Amino acid sequence: MSTTILHRSPLFHPEGPTRPPGVVGDSTYLLELTGCRYPWADALYRKMRNLFWKPDDVNLVQDHAQFAKLTPIERSTYLQTLGFLIYLDSIQIQNPAWLAQYIAAPEISACLITQAFFETIHAQSYDHLLSSVVDPATRADVYRLWREHPVLRKRNAELVEPYETFHAEPTLEHFATLCFADVLMEGVYFWSGFAVFFTLASRQQMTGTAQLMRQNRRDEQQHLALYTQIVRALQTETPELFTADLLAKWDRLARAAAAHEIAWMKAITGGNFPGLPLEHIAAYIHWTTNQRVRPLGLPAPFSEITRNPLPWVDRMGEMNAGKADFFEQSVVNYQDDLDFSDL
Ligand SMILES: [Fe+2]
Ligand SMILES: [Fe+2]
Repeated sequence: MSTTILHRSPLFHPEGPTRPPGVVGDSTYLLELTGCRYPWADALYRKMRNLFWKPDDVNLVQDHAQFAKLTPIERSTYLQTLGFLIYLDSIQIQNPAWLAQYIAAPEISACLITQAFFETIHAQSYDHLLSSVVDPATRADVYRLWREHPVLRKRNAELVEPYETFHAEPTLEHFATLCFADVLMEGVYFWSGFAVFFTLASRQQMTGTAQLMRQNRRDEQQHLALYTQIVRALQTETPELFTADLLAKWDRLARAAAAHEIAWMKAITGGNFPGLPLEHIAAYIHWTTNQRVRPLGLPAPFSEITRNPLPWVDRMGEMNAGKADFFEQSVVNYQDDLDFSDL
């Protein structure tokens, strides 16, 4: 079971099943949402679509003026955090389409492809931020961090291992582990980065940046839901896959994800970022990791952390946080705002 190699179905496959046999398996790829096998995927696909937004609608003029007044540690943490997020969103543009090739349920593939599209919006939002807030030379420096900062380079090389392992050998076990790695990617790796921007916003600094991050964060919540649901479906459909060995491996992955996140925050802040002492950040990352594994029925890796140590960070991340700033911006939620005259 765990070593079953997954295959793509033929593109023209008239003998294929009317409904997919499961998350993986034989498929005709025919997208028929009504009556589809996974109604949650149909609902999630529609929800994700309705959250379309445009980064350039967020005005960053005030952020440009404020950036120069930040302390050196605030400035360098802001830029290095962006350097990491740029890499994460860029690879998440590529990954969902690869995964989708092995998914038998087209409604789940629709969610993955929609996710990839939204990751392009996120990557665009960082470009918008950097071109608005800093000079071109600084912007170029940030775009080099993913491979030139020694800590970040090592981390990035390690975090793609489950992705490359699956592509080298697309077994069902590697597929499931990659989906779990995506739960950690969408639900842990971005979140201490968000904490940096929401901490600044709590001091009324870089509020345009925080607004962009709120919209990113809302999308990441959908992506987290997507991978969580895929793993849950696999747990139901192939329970024999989830051996004690695999669960121990996932526990190690979750612990490593948290450790890497904490080490990165230590490297960029040295514990000197106002409002985010290292022990609070570490507890927040541990708490967040616990929250991500709980819906999968897995034991909390950090059971000693039983409450959110930074609840205000999550409150600042909600879409209605910082209302004054939010409503001063132009409308940022779009629903079916298509104008074909532009095409
Ligand atoms: Fe993203
Ligand atoms: Fe994402």
